Amino acid sequence: MSVMKLYTYPDPVLRQKCQKITGVNDQTRHLLDDMLETMYADKGCGLAAPQVGVLQRIIVLDPNPSDEDLTARRPMYLVNPEIIWRSEETILFDEGCLSLPDQRAEVERFKQIRVRYINYFGDEQEMLAEGLLAIILQHEIDHLDGILYIDHLSRLKRTRLLKKLEKYYTEQEKK
Ligand code: NI
Repeated sequence: MSVMKLYTYPDPVLRQKCQKITGVNDQTRHLLDDMLETMYADKGCGLAAPQVGVLQRIIVLDPNPSDEDLTARRPMYLVNPEIIWRSEETILFDEGCLSLPDQRAEVERFKQIRVRYINYFGDEQEMLAEGLLAIILQHEIDHLDGILYIDHLSRLKRTRLLKKLEKYYTEQEKK
C-alpha cells in the first residue's frame, strides 16, 4: 500500500463528475487500499477518488480512524455508491475536508440515508446509515459529482472560508 498525492482546492479535478466503474478487480482493490492508506495518513475519516486525482465513483471511509488503537478501525470501501433513500429529518454537523485543509463549517445533511453500492469483493450491498456515518457518506458521494461541502454554505460563509483557506496556504508556503 502507498500514500497517494492529495489534490486540494481549487484544483479542477475536484470539480469533475466521476464515471461509474464496471466491475471490481485487483486494480480496483489496489486503488481502494491506497486510498485508505492516504486517508489514514492525512488523518481523515473519508476520502473520494477525485481527491487523489482518479475520476471513478469510489470512496473509502472510517467513522473511527483511530491512530492509537488500530483494532478500533472500521474501514469501509464503496464502489458506485448511490443514495436511494433520504430521511425527511436533517442534522447540522461541523464538516471538514482533506481537500480544504484546516477549515471547518456547519453543513445541513439528511439524518438517515440508504445507500446502494458494490463492496471490496464486488458484491452489491445496501446499507442504512445515520449520524456520523450518514454525514460522511453524503460528503464523499458529493465529491463524486464534483460537489464540495462549501457549495452547501451561504455565499457569505463560503467567501469567508475561502479567504481563510487562502491565508492558510500563504502561511504554509512561508514555512
Ligand atoms: Ni471532502
